[in-house]
Amino acid sequence: MLLEGKKGLVLNVTNKRSIGWAIADLANREGALVGLGAQNERLLENATELVEGRERFETVTIDFAFEEQFASLREQVETKVGKLDFIVHSAAYAPREALENRFIETTREQFEIAMNASVYSLFRTCRELEPLLNDDASIVALTYLGSTRAMKNYNVMGVCKAALEASVRYLALDLGERGIRVNAVSPGPIRTAAASGISGLKDMIRHVGDTAPLKRPYGQEEAAGAAVYFLSDLSKGITGQILFVDSGYSVVAM
Ligand SMILES: NC(=O)c1ccc[n+]([C@@H]2O[C@H](COP(=O)([O-])OP(=O)(O)OC[C@H]3O[C@@H](n4cnc5c(N)ncnc54)[C@H](O)[C@@H]3O)[C@@H](O)[C@H]2O)c1
Repeated sequence: MLLEGKKGLVLNVTNKRSIGWAIADLANREGALVGLGAQNERLLENATELVEGRERFETVTIDFAFEEQFASLREQVETKVGKLDFIVHSAAYAPREALENRFIETTREQFEIAMNASVYSLFRTCRELEPLLNDDASIVALTYLGSTRAMKNYNVMGVCKAALEASVRYLALDLGERGIRVNAVSPGPIRTAAASGISGLKDMIRHVGDTAPLKRPYGQEEAAGAAVYFLSDLSKGITGQILFVDSGYSVVAM
């Protein structure tokens, strides 16, 4: 098993369609003890249901919008999980209006909310949990092609993903001295709760299916495979990288 004896966190999950859940599930099946995160008590019920009857799962809560919750996350992790071999950051949010109006109309408040939930949350979590990270730990974030291509309706989230990818590189530099690796997985569009906030998602998925070199559909399972590769020692020579899991869509021009 690829993650035998490892312990880590996956932040956060909404339901069984969450990419985070696919990663947590596969990491657990590959031998890891997983602390599964939920944003609040309501979503914690979903997370608890997902792990019911399964061994080597714990649950934690964190809402990245509240600064004081990072310290509370650390306490929960210290008590329930202990030292960490990996952290998966699988969370993003932008107010609905920011994904409906033209990008140019994004307000200061919408920008701050989106950046806090989707970008600051990554390095703030890493800072809070740095003392709990074992040497040679692995950190994985989830990003999207809208970081480098302008994508209709993705708007401020594309700006967030560009900042998230830059944060991955800077974290790789900071944490590399301890052998800690930081990478991102970039799936194509997948139907999840967060993605349903992007209008035109169905068309995006159809367009990728029509254009990508691989005709086999991809989804949560494929994203999880790439993430678990990054969490495992198989990828021990890799840091600061973005790995596309999109049936090859991102390399095709027409
Ligand atoms: N679904 C896609 O098409 C797609 C494609 C590429 C990348 N991604 C990325 O994958 C990651 C997971 O998204 P998903 O599609 O599985 O959707 P999801 O809705 O299942 O997961 C998003 C998670 O973000 C959490 N979150 C949002 N705001 C938060 C906050 N303030 N504090 C704490 N948690 C917060 C939600 O609670 C939720 O669990 C995100 O980073 C997303 O941008 C998704």
